[in-house]
Amino acid sequence: MGDLILQIRKLTNFFGMVCTAKELDLDIEAGVLTSIIGPNGAGKSTLINLITGNLPVQSGSILFKGREISRLPIHQRVRLGICRSFQIVNIFPELTVLENLLIPTLALSGRTRRFFAKIEGEDRARDQVKNLLEKVGLAGVKDTPANVLSHGDQRLLEVGVALAVEPSLLFLDEPTAGMNPVERVKVLENIRQLSREGQTTFVLVEHDMDIVFSLSERVVVLHRGDILGDGTPEEIKNNVQVREVYLGDSV
Ligand SMILES: Nc1ncnc2c1ncn2[C@@H]1O[C@H](COP(=O)(O)OP(=O)(O)OP(=O)(O)O)[C@@H](O)[C@H]1O
Ligand SMILES: [Mg+2]
Repeated sequence: MGDLILQIRKLTNFFGMVCTAKELDLDIEAGVLTSIIGPNGAGKSTLINLITGNLPVQSGSILFKGREISRLPIHQRVRLGICRSFQIVNIFPELTVLENLLIPTLALSGRTRRFFAKIEGEDRARDQVKNLLEKVGLAGVKDTPANVLSHGDQRLLEVGVALAVEPSLLFLDEPTAGMNPVERVKVLENIRQLSREGQTTFVLVEHDMDIVFSLSERVVVLHRGDILGDGTPEEIKNNVQVREVYLGDSV
């Protein structure tokens, strides 16, 4: 195993009687494109929420680059480099693509308090946004208001917004939900490419098994708060338990 960017230990989460994580242990390896799959309601989104701080951790520990983060507020986790996109599109609809990307980029460069840093920061932010537009393939629509974009491009913009804060760990919750096949390929190629560049470790939650198996280097199967399977796409496809509970005859 390479460097572990995330180490989850004995993470437990209940919603009333419903248990979505039962003393869960999970490591995420830096640079390894990992997918988390499992039936509806398995607790995939909840797991992301616990890691990013959108939900309070009830018990257990989460180490990010060796540091305990499970009690830190969201913004501190973002600052450390943990970011996420949501299952539902989450951008400013009235603002253009460029403006949507400029906001988090400026917020990031605003971290410095140096004299004159503000103007320098804005120049740098513009360069960074240009770079981001290229990365997510939206340079051609940079002046288009976000709500006019196709659904696929909106999801790409979301990925761009998440990348703007230069995360080292990025969770994408169903990035291709509601997309047509053409948009899907575009988004996936993008994620594949960005993952190869190596600055960001991607963790994907996805229901489309074609996507999961073609894109992932590792697949983790979540079921009733437990890890039912963990391995390469090939191993997961051939895992008897996983087939019984989740995949059925779909592979
Ligand atoms: N904030 C919450 N309060 C109470 N119950 C919740 C909350 N969020 C999720 N749940 C419940 O926890 C369980 C796991 O939900 P979660 O959204 O994590 O599943 P999921 O694996 O992401 O499912 P899907 O594939 O449908 O997105 C479900 O039974 C859900 O109803
Ligand atoms: Mg979900």
